[in-house]
Amino acid sequence: MITAGPTYEAIDPVRFIGNHSSGKMGIALAQEMAARGAHVQLILGPTTVNSNHLNIQTTHVTTADEMFEQAKAVHSSSDICIFAAAVADYSPAHPATEKLKKKDSRLSIELKKNVDIAAELGKIKSTQQIHIGFALETQNGEENALQKLTQKNFDLIVLNSTKDEGAGFKHDTNKVTLYFRNGTKEVSELLPKKAIASLIAEGIKKTKN
Ligand code: CTP
Repeated sequence: MITAGPTYEAIDPVRFIGNHSSGKMGIALAQEMAARGAHVQLILGPTTVNSNHLNIQTTHVTTADEMFEQAKAVHSSSDICIFAAAVADYSPAHPATEKLKKKDSRLSIELKKNVDIAAELGKIKSTQQIHIGFALETQNGEENALQKLTQKNFDLIVLNSTKDEGAGFKHDTNKVTLYFRNGTKEVSELLPKKAIASLIAEGIKKTKN
């Protein structure tokens, strides 16, 4: 199972809260895992990027809640779960049913916390299942990534670089550090996302060591 892409949270029927995730890294992982023989359930947020492998079954979702419902449905039958989606952490508490009209000079939107998909499924993960997470940090990268590794019960977490030119959202290249549950880490070069996907797939093999 792979979650990928952003989620969009409705403010009103025509507006949403979203983020710059393209889904490229998650889709590259889906392609890589499928090429290695996995039957991939790709749960994909709104993006124009596509996958094209017979072993990939894509379910399109929009919101964090929808992504969670789909992930829950396939989790128990998944050996490896990769949480590559950039899930919106908050969504409007009271989305408007009609388009909001422009009125006052300021507008506040009350937000409520969304479900943490990786953390919730981490709680019911079996000892046979492998969970892989991602982290995108602008400060204290290693510390925050290690905290998420433990808190969300991941076997491996992939820290995206935000400081390197050509890495992260929207780019076709990425530079990452893999942190394993056993305390080891691996730092990559700036590489095409396809090569990063292969590196992560190799990393997954090492998680049970
Ligand atoms: N994640 C998730 N559901 C959420 C938020 C995050 O499944 N609601 C997953 C992401 O797919 C990723 C990992 O958790 O694998 C870490 O996501 P990140 O956004 O870096 O962390 P947060 O827990 O949202 O923490 P913060 O935004 O405060 O850094």
